[in-house]
Amino acid sequence: MAFKLGFVLPFIILLVCRTALSIDLTVGDADSTKKATSAIIKNTLTFYTGDKPGGTPGVLPKPYYWWQAGALWGGLIEYWSYTGDDTYNKLVTDALLFQIGPQKNFMPENVTKEEGNDDQAFWGFSAMTAAELKFPDPPRKMPSWIALAQGVFNSQVTRWDTSTCAGGLRWQIFFTNAGYEYKNVISNGAFFQLAARLARYTGNETYSDWADKMYDWMASTPNLGSDGQVNDGSNVAKNCTDTNHDQWTYNYGTMIMGSAYMYSIKKGSEQEKWKTRLSKHLEKFYSTFYPTKYANAPTSPNIMVEINCEEKRICNPDQTSFKAYTARWLAVTTQLAPFTASAILPKLRASAEGAARQCSGGDGGNWCGQNWNTGTWDGFRGVGEQMSALSAIGAPLIEKSAKPVTAKTGGTSEGDANAGLGGPTAVRMNRITNADRVGAALLTFLMILCIIGGALWMIVGD
Ligand SMILES: *[C@@H]1O[C@H](CO)[C@@H](O)[C@H](O)[C@H]1NC(C)=O
Ligand SMILES: *[C@@H]1O[C@H](CO)[C@@H](O)[C@H](O)[C@H]1NC(C)=O
Ligand SMILES: *[C@@H]1O[C@H](CO)[C@@H](O)[C@H](O)[C@H]1NC(C)=O
Repeated sequence: MAFKLGFVLPFIILLVCRTALSIDLTVGDADSTKKATSAIIKNTLTFYTGDKPGGTPGVLPKPYYWWQAGALWGGLIEYWSYTGDDTYNKLVTDALLFQIGPQKNFMPENVTKEEGNDDQAFWGFSAMTAAELKFPDPPRKMPSWIALAQGVFNSQVTRWDTSTCAGGLRWQIFFTNAGYEYKNVISNGAFFQLAARLARYTGNETYSDWADKMYDWMASTPNLGSDGQVNDGSNVAKNCTDTNHDQWTYNYGTMIMGSAYMYSIKKGSEQEKWKTRLSKHLEKFYSTFYPTKYANAPTSPNIMVEINCEEKRICNPDQTSFKAYTARWLAVTTQLAPFTASAILPKLRASAEGAARQCSGGDGGNWCGQNWNTGTWDGFRGVGEQMSALSAIGAPLIEKSAKPVTAKTGGTSEGDANAGLGGPTAVRMNRITNADRVGAALLTFLMILCIIGGALWMIVGD
């Protein structure tokens, strides 16, 4: 009996220690989230030289592709929106505007010849997010955020390709690039999402007609399963009768986000149609990316896993960032389709907690790794890991944030009297209460237990 207790005690203590040491983030608390996310951004931007003399604004150095930088700026706009911290606003504005290109649609000369539709769309998303969150407008001589998003949309409409598969966008824009023969879900699904967001923002049905048309086309290929499954893409050589079954969070994410927007702007039986689609994608998403084998972890199975690469530790730099977009899109989905909130919010909170525990690595002890189920840093470090943690940790604040605006509900106008309403920019003042003091004392006690536990562990382990 005594032996058993001695054996079990260190486990109990270690479990408690783990929980006690994860207090860096109080999930959903504005102050605590701001501290955590601001530290993550500081580390992230050590990779960026575009704001330094001689650097090119907007781009990240190798091994990071152009598209991921575009997406990063969107993450920083979201950060500004939910914390009110405008430290990086100028850096973000400069970065986005430097890459708009001569047509003002994010096709800059340096990049265009290697650019895919999905790459362009991710920059378009950041501009769209800027408009929806009322990020400060660009200087007057520059195009507005919404105009940039429209520029991306309009240029992609011209690429709708009926020569194969009866429609859709190819992955690549130019036939010289590998991938021109592939009609992939992220390119088409990103167009779908952008169209749905433009439809809601502008009220112009041309966009929602395109979103409808795109979804129907995608559903006509094996890329969207009737059970809500979202695959990766089809080959034009097979007239899109094939599908690549790789499962990626962001492919689901973009279909979920676009469907939530369509749900929010439609009425009656059309709305019901989108509700069904959205629900099916979500159900399949939950069953695919929240493996139950982690059920013994403190808060699982609500922690998102990039199932195709994370556990095998083979995610490439692009793939490490997919959970960033997905976490954000899930969060926004709860605003536009509130019936999804009760299922999504616990997943956002658990993922935020898992991500925060993971951000404990490297020099400084706050670099983020990939696998949010491990409880501690898993040794990976990079822009994608940082972006995913940033987005996941910020996501639970969605409950306190205003919905994306539309042209009718605040638009892009500067100095709007409603700016900041809804809470996202309000930073809660922290008063030290008795409960805090008791908490601090308890924490000290637990820390001591941790040390004793560690020692005990070694003794018992021997
Ligand atoms: C294109 O590349 C050149 C050389 O690196 C750089 O000076 C220029 O600023 C880049 N332009 C854009 C829009 O990135
Ligand atoms: C390709 O598929 C579309 C429907 O998706 C069909 O209309 C068309 O005839 C097919 N083309 C060929 C060459 O099989
Ligand atoms: C709606 O958008 C389409 C496509 O950009 C445009 O041609 C049309 O003029 C717009 N309609 C209105 C009423 O703004």
